[in-house]
This record gives sequence, structure tokens and C-alpha cells, in this order.
Amino acid sequence: MTRTRVASVDSCRICGADNWHTFLDLGNVPLANSFVTDESEPEETFPLVLMSCRVCRLASLTHVVHPKDLYDHYFYVSSPSRTMQDHMAGLARRFQRILGLGASSLVVEIGSNNGDQLAKFRPYGCSLLGIDPAQNITEQARARGIDTRTDFFTSAVATKVRAERGPADLILARHVIAHVDDVRDLVAGVRDLLAPDGIFAIEVPYLKELVSRRAFDTVYHEHLSYFLVGTLRRLLEDAGLRMIDVDEFDVHGGSILVTATLPSSRHRTNTERIEGKIRAEETAGLTSDETYDRFGAVVDRLRESLRTCLRELVEAGYVVAGYGASAKGVTWLTTSGIPRGWLAFCSDTTPEKQGTLLPGLGVRVISPEEAREQRPDVYVMLAWNYRDEILAKEADFLNSGGRFLIPIPEPHLVGAKESAALIGAAS
Ligand code: TYD
Repeated sequence: MTRTRVASVDSCRICGADNWHTFLDLGNVPLANSFVTDESEPEETFPLVLMSCRVCRLASLTHVVHPKDLYDHYFYVSSPSRTMQDHMAGLARRFQRILGLGASSLVVEIGSNNGDQLAKFRPYGCSLLGIDPAQNITEQARARGIDTRTDFFTSAVATKVRAERGPADLILARHVIAHVDDVRDLVAGVRDLLAPDGIFAIEVPYLKELVSRRAFDTVYHEHLSYFLVGTLRRLLEDAGLRMIDVDEFDVHGGSILVTATLPSSRHRTNTERIEGKIRAEETAGLTSDETYDRFGAVVDRLRESLRTCLRELVEAGYVVAGYGASAKGVTWLTTSGIPRGWLAFCSDTTPEKQGTLLPGLGVRVISPEEAREQRPDVYVMLAWNYRDEILAKEADFLNSGGRFLIPIPEPHLVGAKESAALIGAAS
């Protein structure tokens, strides 16, 4: 087995300062997407510690795992869930409306995964180009006819793409810049590739939501950075781009969509909304060390109560299993010290994950069909970001007395009655 490479972070990847405040130590854990098939394979662990830059308030991991070791062969496949597919279709409609995309337009996606998002632009007839480093997943994209380069997006790659394909009318970076160490180079590449009136759209989990929802399980080695709107504005402006708007979406535990253009573009800046969000970040205390320290203490208590809650269920004789082998789930299970054996198995819809073992836990991942035959008493909802969709889908399990344990913001059990109330409230 080759050893995974890891480096510690010195200066801030956004503002260059070296003035950190460490506030969350989740210990040494395996990589959350390092599903294995062989139980005897030794698992490497790495520190999972979060710190805040006192200058620009980027939150960053203290250690960075070498990207080639994380992404060459990747298990994360863009979710086929209805929630996510609807969100991606909504984004395609939105940008078609703003930009009037058509046959002469070029849409580029950084971190394009299996091409699901780009496919949503097909009805508009534009040229599509995906760029993603994962060999196995870019093959899937190409197989469905989405032109995809297997590569990390850098300023050097941007220059080549511009020479080959011309400027881009829309560049999407959804849930990818948090994974990139040299993010300033990525944004410099975007600036060079954008058409004069082109739009760059970044979607990232929102640090403000992470803190308020206590979603500490979205902290794992792939996510190097956690952003506030103020931090992103600095990143964009330093690269010579103008942030024009920001929106919030309830995906991946609460995300922001930030758009930017070249300074001279025809697009108007929604100053009121951008400033409003930045003011709200300050009001929420997200520019002070104490807020982050309080969050760290809250998470320590939450990990403790997750362990207690699971132990009580197992000791009471219930058969407990995982639902959705998400990286989030692996993170809270491993960082909360859940021992092997508490989960009977983990159900997951992703074919690539089925037959493997949850990292650090040795729990077998099986298909939903197989899981249905095993009839557990309680499913631990590891993909809580799809809560309502999963509750609706599993109505039969709930109606026959099954329950879900939802971990965030506080562990709580949901049966048929509570599920009906939750789904009712959301619709
Ligand atoms: P996801 O939340 O997309 O991401 P992450 O790994 O970044 O935390 O992962 C959700 C996982 O849950 C994914 O492996 C697919 C799986 N899943 C199911 O098994 N059933 C479902 O109904 C849904 C919505 C997801």
C-alpha cells in the first residue's frame, strides 16, 4: 500500500496571513470516502482539526491530504436524489434566463463529476465542457456524451481551454472550491477564461449554516475550506472579479451560491443583498474567536450525546443500521468514537459503494433492496441533508414501526407520526 501524503497549512489560502485560531479538534480519523473492500487492509488516519483565519475568517483544516491521493479514484457520485436533481435543473434554468444561453454559448463546469449538472443545459443547445480529476467518474460522464477532461482545473488548464474552445459564458464551480488548496490559482484561471459578460458561479456549504445547524459532520479531509460571503468576496476581488450576487439554498446542509463577473460586465451588482449577508455574519459573531470556541464546545457535547444515544439503542436490543453511506455519516461516526459492531450494515444507493466497508468502522455497505430484507429497527440517517425525501420514500418502514435516528442538530428519533409532521411542515 502506498502511503497517503499530507501537509500542514501555514498561511491562509485566501488572504496569505498566518494568524490562526484553532477551535475544533475531531482527532485522527480515516478519510471519509476511503471505502475499502478488504477488511485486513490497514487504514491510515489523519488529524481533522479546524482553525479560523483572524484576518479574513476563512475556516480551514490544519492538514491537507494530497489531492491526487484523494481524487484519482473517487467514490462520490453526484446524487441521483430528487432534491439535488431539482436543484441542478433550477440552476440551469436560472442561468439560461440571465445569460440567454444558446447554440453559440459555452458552459464549463469545474468538478463536473458524472456530468449530471451539465446535462441539465442540454435543452438549450450550448456547448458543454466538464473538467474533473476523477478518472473513474469522468469516464461515466464521457460515456453519456458529456465532453469531459480528466484534470484538475488550474490557470494553466484554463489557458489551454480558452485557446481550444474560446471564452466561457458560464463557469460553474459547485461544491468544489472547498476541496482546492490553491484556490487563488483556480479563480485566476476562471478570470482568464470568462467571456466579457460571462458569469462565474460558486456554490459552497455556508459556514454560517454549518455553525448554526451544528453540522460538524460536513468537516472532513476533502473540505479544506469553509466560507463566509465576506471571505469569498475577498477571494474574488483579489483575483480581479466583481461579486454580483449571493443566494442561499437548502442543499448539502445549507449552501450559498455566489456569482461574479469581470469588473466591466453588463451585470449589475446586488450590493444590498451582498452587504446584508456580510452584516448578518458579523451580527452572528462569525468574525470573533469566541463564537468559534462556543461552537467547538457544542460539537464536543453533541458527539458525546450521539454516542450515548446509539449505545442506548444497541443496549436495548434494537437492530440499528446506517442509511446513506455519506462522507458526513462516516465523519460523525468515526469522530464520535462509535465502535465497530453497533451498526449491523449501511444501506446506500450508489453502486460503487455497495460491497465496500465504511471507513474506520468496517460496516458493510449494501443495496437498499438487500437492506429491506434485513428489516432493522432503527436507521441512523447518515444522509440527513435529504431528510424529507428519505422519510417520504421510507413510509412503509416507518408505518411498520421502524424509526430513524436523525443526528443533527441534536440526536432525535423519528417514527411515522413525527415523520408525517416533518414532511407536512416542509411541503
Ligand atoms: P451526500 O449527502 O450526497 O454527500 P456526502 O458524501 O458529501 O456527505 O451523500 C449521500 C449518500 O447517501 C450517497 O452515498 C447516496 C446515499 N443516499 C441513499 O442511499 N439513499 C437516499 O435516498 C439518498 C437521498 C441518498
